[in-house]
Amino acid sequence: MNANRPQPSPHLPLGDRRDAPFYGRDILEVAQFRRADLSHIFGVAREMREMVLRVGSFDLLKGKILASLFYEPSTRTASSFTAAMERLGGSVIPISEVRYSSVSKGESLPDTVRTLECYADVIVLRHPEVGAAKLAAKYARKPIINAGDGVGEHPTQALLDLFTIIEEAGRIDGLTVTLLGDLKNGRTVHSLARLLSMYDVKLNFVSPESLAFPEKILRELDEKGIAWEAHTELEAVLPRSDVLYVTRVQKERFSDPAHYARVKDAYVISPETLTHARPRMVLMHPLPRVGEITMEVDNDPRAAYFRQMEYGMYVRMALLAMVLGKA
Ligand code: NCD
Repeated sequence: MNANRPQPSPHLPLGDRRDAPFYGRDILEVAQFRRADLSHIFGVAREMREMVLRVGSFDLLKGKILASLFYEPSTRTASSFTAAMERLGGSVIPISEVRYSSVSKGESLPDTVRTLECYADVIVLRHPEVGAAKLAAKYARKPIINAGDGVGEHPTQALLDLFTIIEEAGRIDGLTVTLLGDLKNGRTVHSLARLLSMYDVKLNFVSPESLAFPEKILRELDEKGIAWEAHTELEAVLPRSDVLYVTRVQKERFSDPAHYARVKDAYVISPETLTHARPRMVLMHPLPRVGEITMEVDNDPRAAYFRQMEYGMYVRMALLAMVLGKA
């Protein structure tokens, strides 16, 4: 959202609650949230879950339009934003095949978002470049929600991941969370570690050496006094993990196929692996998985990744309602 825009925007209709937290704001990175914001978002997400379980859908965002602009593939993020909007009575302009839009004619991101905001009230954007959501927000008058900017951030995923941990483990403070896989290129773990650093947690980073967690974020954790360890073997930390967050090796970020081939099967979670894990450990994955967790694990009560997806819709319903001034 353009900082020079008059506040509140003349484009935002009457009847919106302008005092609502996050009304008209962009969601670009997790650093914009405080702990109190997170409790508020999760409170609204729980209300959304209640409503969905009771009545399926309702008219909170009737007449509102979401533009869903995806320059990279997505199954869960795009469809959960669509489901969230439609369950709230709103509608969606889906642009997931940018090659069929004017982007393929060379249109710039600023022009594309300034077009879509003429038709929509909020824009969800996924883009392969770090900082793309910030750039879009600089030009747009309407709120931009970052649905992943390259290897940068994925803030709405981190919110749903945190919500999953709270719902499954009952708390965040005091937990040991282990992040596993492609920690260099995975944007979900970049956002999640930053969000977790607002709590009293211990973090373990387990990855092949060439896919280690970024130094820059490790320094941020140091500044916040978060205890962390980095390992290449899961065995070292699995028995003391309350949460194990598994990620896919991000094939699309590799320029050297031989490097990808060397690391792609570095970790595979199987029922045997889980015999070394805590009986109540929460096993998460942002999905898609490409072999990091075998299907035999899916029936283990600790496997939370399908529930994690469902929590995501409630969190995205909450965010849309808040940004559009209805919660
Ligand atoms: C993740 C992403 O796009 O960063 N997917 C998702 O949003 N659930 C994770 C991934 O692609 O590995």
